[in-house]
Amino acid sequence: MARVPHVRVEGVSKTFGSGKQALTALDDVTLDVAYGEFLSILGPSGCGKSTLLRIIGGLMETTAGSVTIGGKHPKEAQAEKAVGYVFQDPALLPWRTVKDNIRLPIQVNRARGGNGHIPPEELLRLVGLERFPHYYPYQLSGGMQQRVALARTLAFNPTLLLMDEPLGSLDEITRAAMRYELLRIWEATKKTVVFVTHSIAEAVILSDRIAVLSARPGRVVGVVEVDLPRPRAEGLERSEEILRYSKLLHALLIQGGSHAAPAGR
Ligand SMILES: Nc1ncnc2c1ncn2[C@@H]1O[C@H](COP(=O)(O)OP(=O)(O)OP(=O)(O)O)[C@@H](O)[C@H]1O
Ligand SMILES: [Mg+2]
Repeated sequence: MARVPHVRVEGVSKTFGSGKQALTALDDVTLDVAYGEFLSILGPSGCGKSTLLRIIGGLMETTAGSVTIGGKHPKEAQAEKAVGYVFQDPALLPWRTVKDNIRLPIQVNRARGGNGHIPPEELLRLVGLERFPHYYPYQLSGGMQQRVALARTLAFNPTLLLMDEPLGSLDEITRAAMRYELLRIWEATKKTVVFVTHSIAEAVILSDRIAVLSARPGRVVGVVEVDLPRPRAEGLERSEEILRYSKLLHALLIQGGSHAAPAGR
């Protein structure tokens, strides 16, 4: 019997506006994500990656096609707190400490069910911030702020994590370190992750599979399986294997009409 996927995206198209103003962002996208899988969506700017993630997260309707999360409509999965979203901007409340930022969604949604929430102390340990519960966001580095945002999202113990370029605003060195930190957290929590990125190397380091989208309207040009052992070791970005996958992904991006940077960058 075929395994039921966690996320099923079937023939999804999205057009914004109508008539002369109509803009098709996604065209007939079909994708499955298995339970516990780390899948990245790689594509040029404006190809519809965030739109696709919003549709999966139940924040936006499709024009055609359908999405199910564990067999349910995304809105239903979202209402059950089965889906967590992490954005590029950590958007922490500056007047709340680290611990109080993490507690916020639980306080706001006290009456709601879900998988049961994880205590803030455990979340702080998970993201490596156990020494900083009383810090305010302005006292944290960008990487630390993004860890708080991740902890806040994990508070509800969602089974599916949707991440839209969560490392995009970090400097290159912090970003490289955060990739492995993210992998450690993913391995510890066994979530399903759909991760949006522009970075070829990042997609290879993190993912089990990478779906490459064409330039707008976003179509799936190819899905690449990353056959590298786990846990993935730091320094992978400088390895031969990365270069091999980068060339393949770069070729797919070009085939999809992207003006991608040369492989290896
Ligand atoms: N709410 C909206 N209304 C109208 N057009 C939209 C809306 N959201 C996105 N678009 C358009 O859809 C296209 C895809 O946008 P989207 O944000 O999904 O791209 P992206 O792949 O995430 O880009 P980037 O990598 O720059 O974040 C763009 O042309 C954008 O202008
Ligand atoms: Mg985007």
